[in-house]
Amino acid sequence: MKIILLGAPGAGKGTQAEILAKRYNIPAISTGAMIRAEIRDGSELGLKTEKYIKEGQLVPDSVIMDIVKERILKDDCKNGFILDGIPRTIPQAQQLDDMGIGEYTALNISVEDSEIIRRLSGRRVCCNCGATYHIESNPPAQSGVCDKCGEALSARSDDSKETIQRRLIVYHEQTEPLIEFYKNAGKFIEVKGDDSLEATTMAVLRAIEVSK
Ligand code: AP5
Ligand code: MG
Repeated sequence: MKIILLGAPGAGKGTQAEILAKRYNIPAISTGAMIRAEIRDGSELGLKTEKYIKEGQLVPDSVIMDIVKERILKDDCKNGFILDGIPRTIPQAQQLDDMGIGEYTALNISVEDSEIIRRLSGRRVCCNCGATYHIESNPPAQSGVCDKCGEALSARSDDSKETIQRRLIVYHEQTEPLIEFYKNAGKFIEVKGDDSLEATTMAVLRAIEVSK
């Protein structure tokens, strides 16, 4: 099973990707998460990409595709994978097709911009294990503390008001055209992601089962 999760920043791609990964026993691959780990480690790749993330701009296609190619060749991807936030431009989508990844479904989680801003402003992530929460819709048992590992939660550095606005503009200009791209390829399905987390998961699972 290969699923490409599309959607605006904060649409719930990461949240749903983790749920799908457990259910189907395949890895969830997030270039955003991989790059944030490189930045934390202070690696060469982290230094090269940090400014794009901070400014809410996309990392250059060539850098992203090198990361993706290496990752999906790993052994744990042989039964499939979920791509969370990849591709984000038409050239990335074309390169993914050129790599011959086989049959896949592109699933778009659609959410209004006003709800996106509410979600990203209230998102908290664990600095240790990366678990994601929301102060209202998905709060941890103890405020500011990760349920999974007990470490501190904080806002993501690109979840400031200004950077959220920039990311939304970039999304509408560069990533939203992928909806037409995958519709034209006959690989597109969509769910409304404005509902509760649980209702969205049910809709995502139904859409995947129907598309099989
Ligand atoms: P990335 O990390 O992928 O960020 P993003 O696309 O901006 O998406 P987010 O992770 O912010 O949101 P999400 O959709 O995963 O939502 P989440 O599940 O967390 O990328 C970061 C940066 O890396 C990019 O800006 C770019 O610079 C670079 N990059 C990465 N990939 C790239 C690529 N392919 N090409 C170029 N550059 C790339 O949910 C959000 C919040 O809402 C959480 O608090 C969650 O608890 C809550 N929530 C989720 N679902 C619901 C629900 N149904 N109801 C209520 N609350 C909900
Ligand atoms: Mg995410």
